[in-house]
Amino acid sequence: MTVALKKGVIMPERIYIFDTTLRDGEQSPGYTMNTQEKIRVAKQLEALGVDIIEAGFPIASEGDFEAVRQIASTIKNSEVAGLARANNEDIDRAWEAIKVAAKPRIHTFISTSDIHLKYQFRKTRDEILKIAVAAVKRAKSYTDNVEFSAMDATRSDWDYLCKVFAEVIDAGAVIINVPDTVGYAVPEEFGRLIKYITEHVPNISQAIISVHCHNDLGLAVANSIAAIQNGARQIECTINGIGERAGNAALEEIAMILKTRKDIFDATTNIITEKIYPTSRLITSITGVPVQPNKAIVGANAFAHESGIHQDGLLKSKLTYEIMTPESVGIPKSSLILGKHSGRHAFKDRIESLGYSLTEKELNSAFKRFKALADVKKNVYDEDIEMIIMDELYKVPEKYKLIYLHVSCGNFTVPTATVKLEIDGNIHQDVDVGDGPVDATYKVIKRLVKTNSKLLKFSVNSITKDMDAQGEVFVKLEEKGKIAIGKGADTDIIVASAKAYINALNRLEYIKHTKE
Ligand code: KIV
Ligand code: ZN
Repeated sequence: MTVALKKGVIMPERIYIFDTTLRDGEQSPGYTMNTQEKIRVAKQLEALGVDIIEAGFPIASEGDFEAVRQIASTIKNSEVAGLARANNEDIDRAWEAIKVAAKPRIHTFISTSDIHLKYQFRKTRDEILKIAVAAVKRAKSYTDNVEFSAMDATRSDWDYLCKVFAEVIDAGAVIINVPDTVGYAVPEEFGRLIKYITEHVPNISQAIISVHCHNDLGLAVANSIAAIQNGARQIECTINGIGERAGNAALEEIAMILKTRKDIFDATTNIITEKIYPTSRLITSITGVPVQPNKAIVGANAFAHESGIHQDGLLKSKLTYEIMTPESVGIPKSSLILGKHSGRHAFKDRIESLGYSLTEKELNSAFKRFKALADVKKNVYDEDIEMIIMDELYKVPEKYKLIYLHVSCGNFTVPTATVKLEIDGNIHQDVDVGDGPVDATYKVIKRLVKTNSKLLKFSVNSITKDMDAQGEVFVKLEEKGKIAIGKGADTDIIVASAKAYINALNRLEYIKHTKE
């Protein structure tokens, strides 16, 4: 028995990780992904050891449906869940999308709080109960693997909640999920609610208790942990904690809490923690949304010890200030930095140690770009290599190519840009002025390409820390509801900005001509 156990509660040994990065995470602003990117993330989640991948909300759009269907046909080891509101149309559509999966799961939900019932659903508790039971029965007609979520559970009447859970379990639900939809709960109270459910749902032994916590008060992870201590066995979470509003419980934090504090939690997950950092980086590179530097486990400063006292202690023994090692979450030891004398073999080795595998063709092309970068940059770091890999993995046909860019700018000059592009094999050139060199460059590109797209987002980050570091630019464009994210990296940030814009325009073209 461990110290965290309350008398009478049986501590679960195995915690199932339900990842909703591709559903709750992807539906939040700024995190849109296309099907190809979602499949790549799903494969990474499978490699990470996630038990259940919530692949999306199939009824939401044709694109969502297609992405869920393709993920379902690709993933073999993890369960693949499709989300559905508690009605026949949603459930039928979800099943249509996931039925090809090796292990499909239908996840259906409806609210149970009086606030939602009164203002959103305009239904009585009895009516909602009937809808929930009917939805679970419908889902059960397709698969035994049915999860039911009581949305806004934490603001619901506890006895009503238990009644709903008891009836949906009778109807066939094998996982009952307790979402803290608005991030309102605090750990002690949430733990008590889970315990209450274990004691007041008579048939609870026939189902797994799951929790799904939002981070509005910064308590999503703490609440999930309190739930584990009180009998929950499935945790719904996302990579980097992305999700609606302030996000969801962060997968990496849950996994590392359980691993680091084994002395308290007699519970394990299937997560291969060494794959946490590459997975986090994958999400960042695809979405263009950086992780805050002080983010636990995966932030840039998570293992950086700055103070003299800490550094002194660490030099004497790692035990003084390090509760887990960077390697245990997959942060590579950058002891070997590549440069222009590094050969193809060293480059291939480094790519493999970063957790990627490229085809021969991709490797050749990536190596060429590495050599070009090493010519202008003394040290090529892992982050630079990852940027090259990402470009290789997400290549789209290049309708537009940057041939030449010249800018003049300074504090007493009107910023001017001359741009030469290859468009469908023909060369076009133009010049313009702007508020700054990027503005001038973008004006010329926009005119040459004749695009009606709107620039929704532009961000510049430094990939590494040296003076000759590459600038990494993310651009997000929108045209008639289609969204494309473009990336560009270069030691010159104006060139990186031009590359990112052109990359986004090529992606937009690609998206316009595919089903997405
Ligand atoms: O936050 C929430 O309640 C949800 C449900 C659909 C599980 O995302
Ligand atoms: Zn949610």
